[in-house]
Amino acid sequence: PRPILLTRHGESLDNVRGRIGGDNVLSDTGDIYAKKLANFVEKRLKSERAASIWTSTLQRTIITASPIAGFPKIQWRALDEINAGVCDGMTYEEIKKNMPDEYDSRKKDKLRYRYPRGESYLDVIQRLEPVIIELERQRAPVVVISHQAVLRALYAYFADRPLKEIPHIEVPLHTIIEIQMGVTGVQEKRYKLMD
Ligand code: F6P
Repeated sequence: PRPILLTRHGESLDNVRGRIGGDNVLSDTGDIYAKKLANFVEKRLKSERAASIWTSTLQRTIITASPIAGFPKIQWRALDEINAGVCDGMTYEEIKKNMPDEYDSRKKDKLRYRYPRGESYLDVIQRLEPVIIELERQRAPVVVISHQAVLRALYAYFADRPLKEIPHIEVPLHTIIEIQMGVTGVQEKRYKLMD
């Protein structure tokens, strides 16, 4: 069995301010997570010479991966966070106040709701297909450093969770979800690296 490690980027300045999307750098706490993650990965995958680190093309995942030494890093646009379109950079409060209809439609059907000029969860799930194919093809461990919505979809695929649950799955910051694919099925462990 070979592990796939899933994690969100370390806390970003937008996470601190409650702003969605964007392409911001990490907070001090996020930087600490990046170092702890590097430690964890270097120990966990020490003798795994073919392992690789996959990130999105957004700064916060690339910076989170940067302290990890000894493995190749690959950037995937398909691992970028859900595109919030006209709502990019807003807080949920601001959306509720300034675009109440959008807010309500998303609340009613978060899976299918598409942000104006942006994406829906279904769009994200679709664009992840090539990533999933490549993840399945890999024989070596992969560390995927991505974002909340994307990791919900990836996790649901491996953990065999129903489509309608995807937008609501909990994928907290600063936590590694390790998935082991063995003959007996999928096993999961979670490592919370910060309190
Ligand atoms: O708040 C962090 C974040 O990654 C945003 O960039 C993104 O829009 C959001 O989470 C996705 O989560 P939800 O679908 O619950 O809004």
